[in-house]
Amino acid sequence: MILVTTAGKVGSETVRLLRERDVPVRVLVRDPARAAALAEAGAEIAIGDLDLPATIDVAMTGVSAVVLVSPAVPAQEINVVASAARAGIGHVIKATSKASGDSPIARRRWQADIEASLATSGVPHTLLRSNAYMQNVLALAPAIAKTSSFGSAAGKGRAGMVDARDVAAVAAEIAVGPAPHAGQTYWLTGPELISNYDVAGVLSELLGRAITYRELTFEENKDAMIRAGVPGQIAEMNAQAFSLVADGDAEWVTEDVPLILGRAARSFEQFATDYAAAFS
Ligand SMILES: NC(=O)c1ccc[n+]([C@@H]2O[C@H](COP(=O)([O-])OP(=O)(O)OC[C@H]3O[C@@H](n4cnc5c(N)ncnc54)[C@H](OP(=O)(O)O)[C@@H]3O)[C@@H](O)[C@H]2O)c1
Repeated sequence: MILVTTAGKVGSETVRLLRERDVPVRVLVRDPARAAALAEAGAEIAIGDLDLPATIDVAMTGVSAVVLVSPAVPAQEINVVASAARAGIGHVIKATSKASGDSPIARRRWQADIEASLATSGVPHTLLRSNAYMQNVLALAPAIAKTSSFGSAAGKGRAGMVDARDVAAVAAEIAVGPAPHAGQTYWLTGPELISNYDVAGVLSELLGRAITYRELTFEENKDAMIRAGVPGQIAEMNAQAFSLVADGDAEWVTEDVPLILGRAARSFEQFATDYAAAFS
């Protein structure tokens, strides 16, 4: 039995892919209504909360490997690591980013704290250190649908954006055969470096109308996200990350996705085609 903590973008696709391979999988969610499709696909639903260790311990029963993916609040993910250690779990696959204890971005410092807890837990584990998810562009989809334009503090910066479905595919692949991946860190990217000008170009072609990209300052980007309903601290961290993209922070591409999956990583064109309805 594989436990996937949370049914967000990566978690739900990981569960779906494991069920497609007929692997027994349990998913920890706060609200079972949000996991109805996963239950339909044969996943066990464990109702729990990462703030409540007792609920994690119950979900951990009979589990061989854990896919740890959540908003990466340290106390919550450290609860999962501690529960996995108590239960003697064989392997944890942790979704993370460019974690660093001295990053200006709080989320990356949090990731470093969580990774440190895994390192000291003694539980065999694998880190999936992903570049920016293509799915982040979906947050801009309502604005693109309405105004045919979008803005970001990422400037002209290019990123090795990865489709979150490929991150999930890597997590599922490792979960079914974790031994060779113990102690490894994979840097997951898409097949190429793309800027937001490229994103606008792909969307223009796909949608048959001009989509324009505007370069925003950090403050403009943060305020736009807050106006769109993103909580202040998250808007701040996202705008910081986009500003770093402008400086080349995300300008890296690896072969780790094809190496693990035996197929090419999805391109932004593939991603946009699959999600075209969101931008129309
Ligand atoms: N976005 C990027 O570009 C990017 C790049 C690299 C790495 N990452 C990493 O990827 C991870 C996030 O993955 P994701 O984007 O797939 O996540 P996501 O879509 O944001 O989903 C997060 C899930 O966590 C659940 N959740 C929140 N608090 C919870 C709690 N207390 N107990 C149980 N469940 C809870 C949410 O469920 P509810 O429906 O109940 O709210 C939601 O389903 C983070 O570690 C992030 O740093 C992201």
